[in-house]
Amino acid sequence: MDTFLTVERVDYTFEDGPLSVLADVSLSIPAGSFVVLVGPSGVGKSTLLRLLAGLLRPSSGRITLTQQSTGNAIGIVFQRDNLMPWRTVTENVRLPLELQGRNGLAASRSVQAMIDLVGLAGFEQSYPAQLSGGMAQRVALARALVHQPTLLLLDEPFGALDALTRERMGQELLRIWQAMPVTVFMVTHSISEAVFLADEVLVMGGDPGNGRPAAITHRLPIQLLRPRRFEVQGTAEFLEYAAAIRAAIQQ
Ligand SMILES: Nc1ncnc2c1ncn2[C@@H]1O[C@H](COP(=O)(O)OP(=O)(O)OP(=O)(O)O)[C@@H](O)[C@H]1O
Ligand SMILES: [Mg+2]
Repeated sequence: MDTFLTVERVDYTFEDGPLSVLADVSLSIPAGSFVVLVGPSGVGKSTLLRLLAGLLRPSSGRITLTQQSTGNAIGIVFQRDNLMPWRTVTENVRLPLELQGRNGLAASRSVQAMIDLVGLAGFEQSYPAQLSGGMAQRVALARALVHQPTLLLLDEPFGALDALTRERMGQELLRIWQAMPVTVFMVTHSISEAVFLADEVLVMGGDPGNGRPAAITHRLPIQLLRPRRFEVQGTAEFLEYAAAIRAAIQQ
């Protein structure tokens, strides 16, 4: 696979403090792949995601998008779903297109197609307060994908959901990823979610003393066949991957 994005020897320090969060982070993301980042709370996962999104600039090192994109490079779902409460589902999903000045019939069709894809047909005119947590996350996902980004960044998109809804959302996400030409980089706390979804799991860890600064300490390719069905989670192979990731996080 071609490389989609590379991170080379990136350091990041929050200047107020100062707090050195990331040191010497390197990774590469193959085009079309599904990469998942795990690690302890506070280690720097969201910081790395914000660097990939271009919302933060590395203190040193380089982040390069190696595949030229069409200007629709990135879609993001943040750790807290941040829908606009005064807008309906349709109006929330349409926002990225409006920001690009696209208000015509083609834009409306893209919005509807995305609402259908995430399974929210029938709820177009609902407001966020009328939706369940899982439905709100679907809206956030639809909004992140409606402008057909080449890179989808997900920061614990299902963190606030109950276990059953979360499992269903994981399966939905795989279905959506397989239906679109998009590269996914996702942060999660759930080891089984990481194994189920990923082509490769990256483990972030810090200095054993104070946990800081952090880097990528392990990379574990997950060679479970696709499409993956839910039942794979009970197999010995799956459990071995999960145990390996747990051990890597605890090191
Ligand atoms: N804007 C900021 N200014 C100063 N420090 C920050 C800022 N954002 C995050 N930090 C600090 O950087 C460290 C890493 O934060 P980050 O949000 O990247 O962690 P995380 O791995 O995503 O954690 P979690 O799993 O809990 O979401 C934390 O110690 C946090 O306090
Ligand atoms: Mg975070």
